[in-house]
Order: sequence, then C-alpha cells, then structure tokens
Amino acid sequence: MTAELVAEAVGLRKVYDIRRGMFRAPAHLQAVGEVSFQLARGRTLAVVGESGCGKSTLARMVTLIEKPTAGSLTLVGVDAVHTPAERRRELRQAVQLVFQNPYGSLNPRKKISAVLEDPLAINTTMGATERAAKAREMLARVGLRPEHANRYPHMFSGGQRQRIAIARALMLSPRLLVADEPVSALDVSIQAQVLNLLADLQAELGLAYLFISHDLGVVRHIAHDVLVMYLGHAVEQGPKTHIFARPLHPYTQALLASTPGLATERIVLQGELPSPLNPPTGCVFNTRCAHATELCRSERPVLRMLDARKVACHHAEKFLPG
Ligand SMILES: Nc1ncnc2c1ncn2[C@@H]1O[C@H](COP(=O)(O)OP(=O)(O)OP(=O)(O)O)[C@@H](O)[C@H]1O
Ligand SMILES: [Mg+2]
Repeated sequence: MTAELVAEAVGLRKVYDIRRGMFRAPAHLQAVGEVSFQLARGRTLAVVGESGCGKSTLARMVTLIEKPTAGSLTLVGVDAVHTPAERRRELRQAVQLVFQNPYGSLNPRKKISAVLEDPLAINTTMGATERAAKAREMLARVGLRPEHANRYPHMFSGGQRQRIAIARALMLSPRLLVADEPVSALDVSIQAQVLNLLADLQAELGLAYLFISHDLGVVRHIAHDVLVMYLGHAVEQGPKTHIFARPLHPYTQALLASTPGLATERIVLQGELPSPLNPPTGCVFNTRCAHATELCRSERPVLRMLDARKVACHHAEKFLPG
C-alpha cells in the first residue's frame, strides 16, 4: 500500500444471519457482496445506490463498527480486520464518521464546548486551556463563531449542527471521514454550503472522504470516484467524469435518468427491488433491466474494466459509441 493510500478494501463482504424463530435455520442476508476499492489522500469516493443496497453497512465496516464477514480492509496502512491491539486506538482516531442526522448524534445536554473537547480529553494529554482553544479554533474552521461553544445543540439550525458534527469528527485529526448521507436532511441551499465546507476542508487538510449518498446531484458536486451499488454488489465503479459522461451499466443509467438536472433520457425501472434475502440468480439487476437476456438470468457478470471504469454487465459494450 503506498503512503498516499488511506483506505483499501478487497472483496469486503457482510452477511447477516436473520433469525426466523426457534425451529428454523437462520436465513442469510448478504448486505454487501464483494466490494473492493482504493481511496487516496485528498480524494472522495462516493457510494451511491437506492435504499437497502448496503451503503451504510459498508460505512459501518470501514468505521470499524462492524467486522466484515470476509475480505480485507486496510486503513492508514493498518489491517483493520485483524488489528493488532496496540494500533486500535490509532485506527479509531484516523477514521471518523459523520451521520445524516446530526441532532441524533449530538447529546442534547452537552454544550458544544464539551462535544468538541471530549475526544481530546479522552484521547490526548492536552490540558483544559489547550482543549478549549482547539475547540474554538475548530469552530472557526467550520464557519461558526467562538461564542457558539457555550450553546447547546438545540440552539442551532440543521446546517450549523452538521458543521458541529464535522468539527467534532475533525478534533482528533483523522485521515478518513466516512460521511453517511451527510446533507440528505438539509435544504438544498444549505446542502451546497456544507458540501463547499467539506471540499475546503479536504483541500486544506488532505482528508479522504467515503461519501455516501443516494443523490447523484450531490455526488456530482463532491466525488472524484463513484461506486454504484445494487443489492449489495458493485455494478459500476470508476472516475466520476467517465461514469457521469457515459454510464455503462443499465442501473447507473436509470439512476442518472432519475436525477433532476442530470437526466438526458427517461428510463423507468421495471418491477420492484428484489428482497436481499432472495436475490435473483445471474445478474442481480436482471429482473428490472430492459436489456436482460437469457445469459443475464443465468450467469452473474463479473466486474471488469471497460472504457476507463469497471462495470458488471454482460452487454455493456452495447452502450459504447460506434
Ligand atoms: N444489523 C442488521 N441485521 C440484519 N440485516 C441488516 C442489518 N443491517 C442492515 N441490514 C440489511 O442489509 C441491507 C443493506 O442495508 P443498509 O442499511 O446497508 O442499506 P443502505 O444502502 O444504507 O440503505 P438506506 O439508503 O436506506 O440507508 C438491507 O437489506 C438491510 O435490511
Ligand atoms: Mg443507509
């Protein structure tokens, strides 16, 4: 792993055992199939796909909240699946999470000063004065004022709360920020401000972002690379410019077509999202794909390089010009 690489996942999988009562064997739900990616310093990988495709499960594995069922994960050069005990703290500091709902993740009884200073009190030897100074400095950096430190979370707007959540995540100087739908709960005008803040912080601090969103309009704004997921599987993956200019997977095409401002044609997805407990054989997308053939119903397409990105579709060539 080169020094620039902040995160590398190879074949990450998460399978949940679902209990179905005492006398039946548990069912297996594969929330994330074999997902691989590399994420370098100063870069943003956006994970997109509709509800239930496994985005948050991936985020929970990368933030060490859940252990993968299989696959390897290396974060800042450390094995994040079998982490040596002495490196666990370092890893937990290097990777931070920002949630969709900052109100839910901020303790309503804690002043902002405590919200920001607690990580320092727990993880560093800094004294009280130094901690307070650092918290105020961080408030300024995320576009808030020093006196905001004395207020409680309910005294802020949604956008300000998300700035506080970002400030808290940055207190221990992480290398990777995993943001799970960080602007989805905000008004569009506020979304742009928070996205600009994230972009500024990335330029300033060299942060890597794993940015989760169902909104391709937002993704276009912030991503360098894109990972499109469907029923736990990566169906298309690569540089944003290539994928947005010419999506090669019918699912990516449908997602783009349903995004206001990005739609070039109208594609209506057929049928309903299959249950992850009983995924289709062959291509996971075949039950909703207008281009599906017998091959798609019988054989799972592998993720392969085509036109400067990876795509898992038997018929992707069909979407190339000429
Ligand atoms: N702890 C769990 N136990 C069992 N199944 C789970 C668990 N967590 C998630 N799942 C299932 O795994 C699949 C992926 O869920 P996940 O929350 O990762 O999706 P998501 O892409 O984040 O969706 P959303 O856009 O709604 O947030 C879903 O089918 C979900 O029901
Ligand atoms: Mg989610």
